[in-house]
Order: sequence, then structure tokens, then C-alpha cells
Amino acid sequence: MADQHPGQVQTHGSRTAELVAVSRARHLLRHNPPYIFHDPYAFQFLSKRWQRILGYRLIDAFVSGIVLRRLMPITTQPLTRARFTEDCLLAAIEDGVGQYVILGSGYDTFALRHPGLDVTIFEIDLASTIALKRERAGAAGLALPDSLRLIPIDFEKDDLADRLTAHGFDPEKRSFFNWLGVTYYLSREAIQDTLDQVAGITCPGSEIVFDYLAETNSIPEDERSLAQGMKNYVGKLGEPMITSFDPATVETDFNTVGRWDVVRNDSPADQQQRYVAGRGDVYALPPLFWCLHLRRRG
Ligand SMILES: C[S@@+](CC[C@H](N)C(=O)[O-])C[C@H]1O[C@@H](n2cnc3c(N)ncnc32)[C@H](O)[C@@H]1O
Repeated sequence: MADQHPGQVQTHGSRTAELVAVSRARHLLRHNPPYIFHDPYAFQFLSKRWQRILGYRLIDAFVSGIVLRRLMPITTQPLTRARFTEDCLLAAIEDGVGQYVILGSGYDTFALRHPGLDVTIFEIDLASTIALKRERAGAAGLALPDSLRLIPIDFEKDDLADRLTAHGFDPEKRSFFNWLGVTYYLSREAIQDTLDQVAGITCPGSEIVFDYLAETNSIPEDERSLAQGMKNYVGKLGEPMITSFDPATVETDFNTVGRWDVVRNDSPADQQQRYVAGRGDVYALPPLFWCLHLRRRG
């Protein structure tokens, strides 16, 4: 559990959020259907530079086959975690959930992909990332639905419950929270505080899905250099990964007792088996990230 102090300073939009959009866009351009995760809008949220790279097969082959070759195995996880989470979300909506909160939403496109759903969507992120998302949506001519509420927040400093209720979140309505690709960038205190605040403003039956980085000792030795390479890379982008957990003790580590039931602590092997096995076009899922699905107790 090698926690450090949070070191993230962002004056521009999140670079790691853009890399997630790159993985989603590249999946549709370079891999075969059926897709693990189908996001036809991801490409439009990329910078011109990334659009150029993905737009030309030869440049993409150079970048993915040479420049970023060692890191490419981590590009499958943004697809599987999103698929897992939205499968859980759609089942929850079917079962009557009426509010969807995306914590650290980056360039999430659920609202664009599901315009007809009777669900209030809240996207929450740092102000700089939200501003860039709006700017890129505008430049691409994408109209973000009026019902979508974009809320700037810093999980390290701000009060999530206050912000959500100020933007119309109803604590009495069952809700679903998505918190993907974020916990490892936060301090342990901010993670627990955010989870406690979510417990404090949600009614029984509400759900949350988030992923977390396995601590180094829980990662097989031959995969640790990939984990280190990934940490070095995102650290240089100004978004250091600072917190990880032991998958064997997450229930006590996240202090879920009494408030949350663990629906599933989904391992990379589970997700590999469910979404990736039998495919030859995407990288196998490395054993670095787990997904935790929790439900609020009555
Ligand atoms: C890797 S991206 C994940 C984006 C999105 N959830 C996805 O899976 O596509 C991490 C996101 O967390 C946001 N983030 C990081 N630290 C944050 C903080 N302290 N407060 C709010 N958002 C934060 C970043 O701006 C970024 O959008």
C-alpha cells in the first residue's frame, strides 16, 4: 500500500481521461465487432493530435507498435471496466434506478449514447476537465443534453454531497454511481471520504461501481514492470497514481461494513474470461485493476 500525497495539478483537461477516450476510439477503428464497449463519440472528444494519429493507420502503427508498445496491454481495461459498469447500470435502471452519477467523468458519453432514457445524469469532475469536455463537444457540434448536469468538484477538497444536492440530486431516489479510472489518483483519505459521502446521500438499494489498482505485492512478479511503466507514464503526464489496495482486504480497507454490501469484487481474470477470452484482436487483460460493485444496505 504505497500511498503518497496527492500531486495532481491540472490547469488543462485530464490527459488520462483523453487516453481512455483514445482506447475507446481505437477499439472501433482497429478491432472487430462485436465490440467490448461501443462508443461512437469517443473520437470526437480527442485532441487534433490524437485524431491525426488514429486517423492514419501507419502513424497509429508507429505509435502503438513502437512508441507506446510496452504500455498497450493496459488499453483493454478501460473497455472492460466500462462494459462491466454499464451492464450493471442498465440492469439497475431496468429495476427502477432514476439517477446516474459519474464521478471523475472525463469524456464519458453515456448521455449522448442513451438520449431517450428517463434518468437524470450528473457528471462530476475537475473544473478544467469539464471545461475542455464542453469545448470539444461544441467544436464537434455535439449538443450535450439539457438534462445532463456537469458539476465541477475536487474530491480532495470539496463537499460532494453539498454539490450534488445543490444540483438537484434527490437522496430519496435510488441512484447508481460510476467511479471509474479515478481512485488510484486520489489520496486514501479522499477515497474514503467520497465513499462515505456517497453512503450518506443515497438510499438503500443504491449502487456504486469503481475500479482500484492492486497493490504491488498482489500483482504477479512478471507483470510488475508493466505496472511500473504505467505509473511512470501517467506520472509524467502530471497525474501520478498514488493509491492501491490489496484485493483480499477491500471490504475492511474501504470500510464498507454496515453500509454497503459487496455485490462483486470482480478480478481481472473474471473480466478477461467474460469479455476478452477468445478474441485475438485486443490485448489480454493484465492483472492490475479490479472492479468493486457495492449496494447500499437497508
Ligand atoms: C483516467 S480519467 C477517467 C475518466 C472516466 N471516468 C473514464 O473512465 O473514462 C480520471 C478522471 O478523474 C478526474 N480526477 C482526477 N483527480 C480528481 C479530483 N481530485 N477531483 C475530481 N476529479 C478528479 C480527472 O479529471 C479525470 O477526468
